[in-house]
Amino acid sequence: MVDILHISASPKGERSTSERMATAFLEAYAQTHPDDVIRRLNVFEAELPDFGKLHAEAKFAPYFQEDLTPEHLAAWAPVLELIAAFDKADKIVISCPMWNYSVPWRLKLYLDCLVQPGRTFGYDPAKMLHIGLLRNRPVQLLLTRSSTMPGDPNDFQLPYLKFIMTSIGLADVRALSAWQTTKYTPEERAAYVARFEGEAREAASTF
Ligand SMILES: Cc1cc2nc3c(=O)[nH]c(=O)nc-3n(C[C@H](O)[C@H](O)[C@H](O)COP(=O)(O)O)c2cc1C
Repeated sequence: MVDILHISASPKGERSTSERMATAFLEAYAQTHPDDVIRRLNVFEAELPDFGKLHAEAKFAPYFQEDLTPEHLAAWAPVLELIAAFDKADKIVISCPMWNYSVPWRLKLYLDCLVQPGRTFGYDPAKMLHIGLLRNRPVQLLLTRSSTMPGDPNDFQLPYLKFIMTSIGLADVRALSAWQTTKYTPEERAAYVARFEGEAREAASTF
C-alpha cells in the first residue's frame, strides 16, 4: 500500500486555486492508483506545535550537550510526531499559494517543525554540507501566485520549497505553478484555472 501525504497550505478551502489543483491532481491519481491511501493535512486547520523557546532549545540541546527538561520533552513530543507522520508517506503533495513572495506562515511553521538536525538532516563536517537523512521519494508541488511569474528573481516560494525538500533528502521534486490567478473576470478565471487543473491531472499520470 502506497501512502500519499497531501499538505495543503491555503486557508481558503473550496475557493482556493491551489486546493483545486490538488483535487484535480489527486482525483486523477486515485483513478489509476485505487489502492493507495491519501492522507490530507491542511496546515491552517491542523494543530501544529507552537514552535518557540522550548522548541528552539530542544532543537540544539544535543549540540550543546544539554539534557532536556520534562517541559522540553513535552513540547518536543508533537514535533517528533509531525516528523513521523511526514516520514510515513511514500509520496508527498504540497499545494501552496505564494504569500509575500514566499509560503504562508502556517506552512513555514510546519517546516520549522519538520526540519530538525539528527532527525531529518545531518551535517558532513568534511564537506561542510548539510545532508538529508530521509529516504528519497517523489514530491509534487502545486503552487499558485498572482503577479509573481515563475522564474521571477523574487520568487522565494518555489526555490525555497524545492531546497527544503532536497535538504532533508527528498530530491525528486516536481513543480507545477499557476500564476496570474487574480487577473481575470470570474468567467475568464474559471477557464484559466481549468487549464492548470488539466496540467495537474497530466502531472498525476507520472507521479
Ligand atoms: C497574504 C497574501 C499575500 C500574497 N502575496 C503574493 C505575492 O507575493 N505574489 C503574488 O504573486 N501573489 C501573492 N498573493 C496572491 C496569491 O498567491 C494568489 O491569489 C493565489 O492564487 C492564492 O492561492 P489560493 O487560492 O490557493 O489560496 C498573496 C495573497 C495573500 C492572501
